[in-house]
Amino acid sequence: MKEESRHAIVFGASGLIGWALIDQLLRRYPEAGAFSKITAVTNRPIKLSDFHWPEPGINRPILQLVSGVDLRRSDGATLSGSLKQAVKDIDTVTHLFYQVFTSVPDDIEEVAVNGRMFQAVITAHNLLCPNLQFVIFPGGTRGYGIYAAGGVFTPPLTETMVNTLPPDYAKTVVYPTYRGILIAASQQKNWTWCEVCPDAIIGFTPNGSQFSLALHWAQYLSLYAYNHGVEPTPKQAKTTAVKVAFPGNAAGASSFFSPVSATILARFMIYASLHPDTCGGGQLFNIADNEVPCTYGELWPQLANWFGLVGTGPVENSKIDESSLAVGELPQAACALTPGEYISRHKNVFAQCGHEKAVNGGVSAGSRQLDSVGYWLTFDRHLSLEKLRETGFKADRDPIEGWIDSFEMFKRAGLIL
Ligand SMILES: NC(=O)c1ccc[n+]([C@@H]2O[C@H](COP(=O)([O-])OP(=O)(O)OC[C@H]3O[C@@H](n4cnc5c(N)ncnc54)[C@H](OP(=O)(O)O)[C@@H]3O)[C@@H](O)[C@H]2O)c1
Repeated sequence: MKEESRHAIVFGASGLIGWALIDQLLRRYPEAGAFSKITAVTNRPIKLSDFHWPEPGINRPILQLVSGVDLRRSDGATLSGSLKQAVKDIDTVTHLFYQVFTSVPDDIEEVAVNGRMFQAVITAHNLLCPNLQFVIFPGGTRGYGIYAAGGVFTPPLTETMVNTLPPDYAKTVVYPTYRGILIAASQQKNWTWCEVCPDAIIGFTPNGSQFSLALHWAQYLSLYAYNHGVEPTPKQAKTTAVKVAFPGNAAGASSFFSPVSATILARFMIYASLHPDTCGGGQLFNIADNEVPCTYGELWPQLANWFGLVGTGPVENSKIDESSLAVGELPQAACALTPGEYISRHKNVFAQCGHEKAVNGGVSAGSRQLDSVGYWLTFDRHLSLEKLRETGFKADRDPIEGWIDSFEMFKRAGLIL
């Protein structure tokens, strides 16, 4: 098959990773001609213009948007029937990027539901795509045990650690299920696969997200600035004396982690998919913007500054036993409104200011979990990037850049004031 005939299909194209993947593919990363066709698949219907992807231009790959594909309703056979109808040239798909995730309150049920959706997609592509070459999906540091109070492993977190995850915890995470599906489905096939492991992903989504910390904090800081008389400016540069405290405790502000911008994550996923020999074979790769870990305490003042605010440390040094908090738990001592509570209380401001899209375009299922980030992620959890570097992928970035890019996109899309 000629190189110029590569066809990428992205499931979850409206999500944090999926949006950035399509964006990078349309910007012709890594080079013009790498992909000739791109199919973006979404669940909730959304207009193409609302994505804010690059406009058509010379040499831009052909983009096809297929909305309304709810994977919860399908098995492999029914999905293959509907994709055959809905996706032009589905038989030419060469690269499958799977970015779908649906949050379910019960962890075991969440694994089952997401596992079934993934199985349906893989089965359908095995039936429909004889030229399939590569499949890639994102895992995450949840797969290293960060949802357990205090974490499981001592960082830097390395890829082999997933093999020693305690079984009781492992069964609450869907990534091992995905691996099992791909191992079985790729037998005797011409395609290979890999998994990437990001920690917090910083990026843009056009119509909300379940777990976008950047969107959650951006809406909070935007409303907070407005309510304190700080006028939004085109570059958000005029900093006032209005202070906003880090929504967490001292340990949450000072623990090390390795965030990744959705742009860098998307670029590595595309890079990996084009290097099956070095990146295939079911390998797992950590990914982050930078080898040097950072802290929320360093980032917070810079984030607040973009909104004309002064970001300060936590309100009080929490005296509770931090190691007892697990994912989604907030300490009793957290007396101020959390970002999520603040957004809910003041959302009407978005509508009053004519930002209708912001009213329903925020964080959905993950709001409470994101509120608790600064309280339960109190332990170091940074990633080793040694294996990533061995692939030849090079892209060091200052993590703050991903936040600023996202804020600018939120503003452009009317998701913040
Ligand atoms: N967010 C983070 O910081 C982070 C960090 C590490 C790992 N991860 C991992 O990354 C993966 C994706 O998460 P994300 O944060 O990118 O989520 P997200 O922004 O909420 O995106 C999820 C995508 O899944 C789609 N989707 C949900 N239910 C669907 C369904 N029933 N049928 C078809 N599509 C459906 C959504 O489409 P609609 O919006 O159209 O429903 C959306 O495009 C997850 O495995 C997550 O664990 C995320």
